[in-house]
Amino acid sequence: MSVQSEMATLHYGDGKEAKLPILVGSEGERAVDIATLRRDTGYVTIDEGYVNTGSCKSAITYLDGEKGILRYRGYPIEELAAKSRFVEVAYLLMYGELPTPKQLNAFSGLLNNSSLIHEDMKQFFGGFPNHTHPMAILTTMVASLSAFYPVPDELKDEEESQIIANLVSQVRTIAAFSYKMSIGEPMIYPSYRLRFVENFLNMMFSSPVQDYQQDPDIVKAIDTFLILHADHEQNCSTSAVRITGSSQANVYAVISAGISALWGRLHGGANQGAISMLDEIQSSGDDGRVFIENTKNKKARLMGFGHRVYKTFDPRAKIMKELCHKLLAKPGMHDPMFDIAMRLEEAALSDEYFLSRNLYPNVDFYSGLILKAANIPFNMFTVLFAIGRTPGWLAHWREMRHSPDARIARPRQIYVGPPMRTYLPMDKRGANRQSERSKSGRLIARPDPAVIQADPTVVRPKRFTDSIRAERLVPMPPAEDGSGPHIA
Ligand code: ACO
Repeated sequence: MSVQSEMATLHYGDGKEAKLPILVGSEGERAVDIATLRRDTGYVTIDEGYVNTGSCKSAITYLDGEKGILRYRGYPIEELAAKSRFVEVAYLLMYGELPTPKQLNAFSGLLNNSSLIHEDMKQFFGGFPNHTHPMAILTTMVASLSAFYPVPDELKDEEESQIIANLVSQVRTIAAFSYKMSIGEPMIYPSYRLRFVENFLNMMFSSPVQDYQQDPDIVKAIDTFLILHADHEQNCSTSAVRITGSSQANVYAVISAGISALWGRLHGGANQGAISMLDEIQSSGDDGRVFIENTKNKKARLMGFGHRVYKTFDPRAKIMKELCHKLLAKPGMHDPMFDIAMRLEEAALSDEYFLSRNLYPNVDFYSGLILKAANIPFNMFTVLFAIGRTPGWLAHWREMRHSPDARIARPRQIYVGPPMRTYLPMDKRGANRQSERSKSGRLIARPDPAVIQADPTVVRPKRFTDSIRAERLVPMPPAEDGSGPHIA
């Protein structure tokens, strides 16, 4: 990275001017460095959803959304997916180089040695109700690891390597245990004899009464899935990891934050969303056309389509689609949902709505089908994503820890609430509020809709959230009749 002699000039206020340095990344990406902007001018920038904001300098992943390029540490994703195993890629992301045979052996050994979780943790699984989403179990259990494997404030290199191995390996063990718990079967321990993906499948699908027969095509498909999900620079969950980690919270809490952020259906939850959508289309007898019309009318969203940064194609989706073709062509593995997915893709890609908005299938459009073919239960899809993304999160945490530029993340904001006003005693409050009864008959008070409309402090729903009723965004005041739990 270089700081160019070129500067950007900002004109503001009454003829004032500020010079801002331009930074150039190793692939020619340019950024205006605004680190001193507020100090020098009194201005901050605003960029909701961080569409244009670089939050850090990173040497881990490069992507070019316009050209459909994704590289880990300089290596094209296509090559890594074809030639490497997930464990090698995890090492690459973490330590910057593809491992030598000796390094890979040592790393695999460390992962194996770290694959068991403390036996006392097993009883935690029993505390969750049967229908608990495995992502809830995963995020809780990962945060709980810190109680069993305390993290010293000052980490030595070997302690850091051990923690990394614990997390990469134990996230997988916890994932499989949570599934076994949900179906009421005994947990199957990891085995030193099996490689990373085989080990996971064995923990998921073998039982004390029946061995699991590994299918090399399924192993390869899951391994590729994990590689493709291993990192994606400053996405929502990785940003959550960096923000949480910037306070120097312990690393288990940091990864737990990443898992929570990943859970959402606009992020890691989309692979589950895509299958639900295909299922809905299939059971309604629609060939995809009605659903597409609904998405255009903003009544639905085409899950697995669109991406914040990819505007031509998602290179991961291309690899997943090929893998899908190969896997589902195997005897007995054909899935009519794949045909629907293909029709939907074709219809969407010839429709002006999707073309004009650069909406293409993303990695999640096909990955759900691969997981389905591998018999991975539906509610475990996002968990698989989390297993894949853990090395990426850890690589970012590690990079930040060792960066001399790292500071606690603390964005600014533009305050749009009321200016200072006079405090109202209890008997003077509520004059502008309308009262109404809820469906259950409880008396509730809502701000006058006209006030909501005019009030710039109420965030109006946009785009995807159009269907959310405005009043849901307004904090509910306590019941006026004094009932309910809100009166403190
Ligand atoms: N289906 C239909 N319309 C869409 C879709 C979609 N999947 N995605 C975006 N649009 C439309 C929006 O309605 C909007 O239209 P408008 O200009 O008429 O208002 C326009 O395209 C731009 O959409 P934004 O929401 O501004 O795009 P943003 O970059 O904020 O969101 C996101 C990206 C969240 C991925 C979005 O495309 C989406 O919700 N996709 C479906 C969920 C999904 O597949 N997520 C997985 C992402 S990949 C990953 O996490 C591994």
